[in-house]
Amino acid sequence: MNPATKTRSVILGTGSFAPENIVTNEDISRKVDTSDLWIRERTGIRERRVASAGESTSDLALEAGRKALGHAGISPSDLDGIIVATATPDLTFPSTACLVQGKLGIPGTFAFDVNAVCSGFMYALKVADSMIRSGQCETLLVIGAEVMSRFVDWSDRSTCILFGDGAGAVVLGKSGKEGSGGVGTVTLHADGRYWDLIHVPGGGAKTPVEMERPPGNACTIRMKGSETFRMAVRTLEESVREVLKEEGIGVNEVDWVVPHQANIRILEALSERLGIPLERFVINIDRYGNTSAASIPMALDEAVQDNRIRPGQGVLLTAFGSGVTWGSGFVKWT
Ligand code: UT7
Repeated sequence: MNPATKTRSVILGTGSFAPENIVTNEDISRKVDTSDLWIRERTGIRERRVASAGESTSDLALEAGRKALGHAGISPSDLDGIIVATATPDLTFPSTACLVQGKLGIPGTFAFDVNAVCSGFMYALKVADSMIRSGQCETLLVIGAEVMSRFVDWSDRSTCILFGDGAGAVVLGKSGKEGSGGVGTVTLHADGRYWDLIHVPGGGAKTPVEMERPPGNACTIRMKGSETFRMAVRTLEESVREVLKEEGIGVNEVDWVVPHQANIRILEALSERLGIPLERFVINIDRYGNTSAASIPMALDEAVQDNRIRPGQGVLLTAFGSGVTWGSGFVKWT
């Protein structure tokens, strides 16, 4: 095929949604031995959103998805499929994507989840982009959605300060031609030898809930914080450089970095290593904490809606998470 006629995918619209309930650092410091100052200085987080009792991942995903569809001017019935990136599904099965599809009222449209934890949105984007490039689909809804708060041990100060709930979404469509912008290189990686750096031991087939002692105790996040931190900085830098090389561009052609929001110090280290000033990073960790697979599409939507990201600009997405998994991608905004 002539490269000039190759199909690419483009982001037609973005949307995001966060629960109303705000939990501040002060709120947490009343429950565990920590302080607003420690949390701000060590993580950059001031507050996070926490889903109310009646809200679950599919509800947040649905709201973000509806907003992205509205922004794109696409009706749910125009979708070929829905992909939800989540590590905190409503149910063990069926997938959260099926629940969203049911709520959107579009029976027949395919729907499935992708679980790469905090890198989930990069994985889902790559799958969706590949389906569009190969000509199998024309219009897809890609959502990152998490209710991390249900998997947090609220008595563990080393993890409970970090996570928050939310959802972000993009509508991906078929572009005109190669060179006209859209989703470019997306690289994905994993190293399962480090599965236990961040994990939830219980609730799966290996440790079903009824075998846990005490019941429910193992269904919370365990994390080796500083090892995770070091690996995140190294792999994020490597994968960004891999994408830049593949695209044949330098850091000056990156107008915005939209990173997974895990810790402001990780982003500061990445900014320094790459030589991209922090002012060109889209950062909202102060208001949402680490929302895992939701963090990139939430930050992306914020910067699109407030006109920081504009057509013609180069946008670099990059994530690291449990698995361990990591990946980066370049989008020439259209
Ligand atoms: O999204 C997937 C990727 N996730 C990440 O990338 C998370 C990466 N890790 C981190 O963000 C950081 O490692 C943390 C924020 C989790 C921890 O920060 P740190 O600077 O690595 O602290 P540390 O674990 O080395 O602990 C330093 C000290 C310890 O006390 P001692 O042993 O030095 O007396 C901890 O007990 O800080 C203590 N500490 C706290 N103190 C007050 C740990 N958590 C807290 C806390 N408040 N919340």
